[in-house]
Amino acid sequence: MQKDFLSIIDCPAELLEELLELAASLKSLYKGGSRDLCLAGKVLAMLFEKPSLRTRISFHVGMTDLGGEAIYVKPEDIGGIGKREPIKDMGRVFSRYVDGIMARTFDHDTVIGLAEHSSVPVINALTDWSHPCQAMADVLTIKEHLGRIEGVRLTYVGDGNNVARSLAFASSKFGMKMIVAAPAGYELDSQTIERANGVRAGSVEQSNDPRSAVSQADVIYTDTWVSMGQEDEKAKRVADFEGFQVNADLVGAAPKGVKIMHCLPAKRGYEITDEVTEMADSIIFDQAENRLHFQRALLKKLMA
Ligand code: CP
Ligand code: NVA
Repeated sequence: MQKDFLSIIDCPAELLEELLELAASLKSLYKGGSRDLCLAGKVLAMLFEKPSLRTRISFHVGMTDLGGEAIYVKPEDIGGIGKREPIKDMGRVFSRYVDGIMARTFDHDTVIGLAEHSSVPVINALTDWSHPCQAMADVLTIKEHLGRIEGVRLTYVGDGNNVARSLAFASSKFGMKMIVAAPAGYELDSQTIERANGVRAGSVEQSNDPRSAVSQADVIYTDTWVSMGQEDEKAKRVADFEGFQVNADLVGAAPKGVKIMHCLPAKRGYEITDEVTEMADSIIFDQAENRLHFQRALLKKLMA
């Protein structure tokens, strides 16, 4: 039994499949007005080094839905992460009070350290390296809209960042065909590509040409060019990503009916236009909703 959820690449495919099925069944249970109070009396600590709308609210609501409680912890409340006391002490102390820890941190090693030194489950709620809860909610959304996952052609246009990396790992585990179209210097690192393609050969390819990359896409996905913590690089990044905007022209180079995805928050007018965000084939807000449905399943699986 897996204690933590830190990275999709480290999870067995069977567990990921089980989580998707559980997410779908809990979604229909809750849509039908019923509840599953499997976490009654349990508490989740939610540690955030970065801002959040979706992750914070959906985890809080997910815990409450399952009969439990969530505590929001800002680094300044506890004197910083790894500053007032070592991460290994934090993990052990949290484990004496709560039944699970969810953490959004800059450094991926922080969630690894917490997991190593906690006896309770630790969930990665985004690090600079990955965003596994987002990618799993995205796979759930793709399955709902396309009726399948295996063989789906997912073209990610933009920065080879944490979201792109988790999607690459999800593609390898679920048999999607992903193309990452990024400007030179912003591609996913070669180790990520090797690890993804080591699970299933040919899962992830890279390109510097967004038009050819979308030409056979079932889904076009993008994310911000300036991730949290990169604000000082904004001017350079906006210049470097010229030609990589998901706009009506680029969508026109893809097959008709291509679905549009974005993890949000979106910077309209930069990585995506207002027009494309709002088009009928945009499934962006279903993605946002599915964060809640996936995470309910994750909380139940790890903490019940
Ligand atoms: N997509 C996502 O994780 O959004 P937040 O940063 O608002 O949590
Ligand atoms: N890549 C973005 C994702 C936000 C959900 C960031 O890290 O800021």
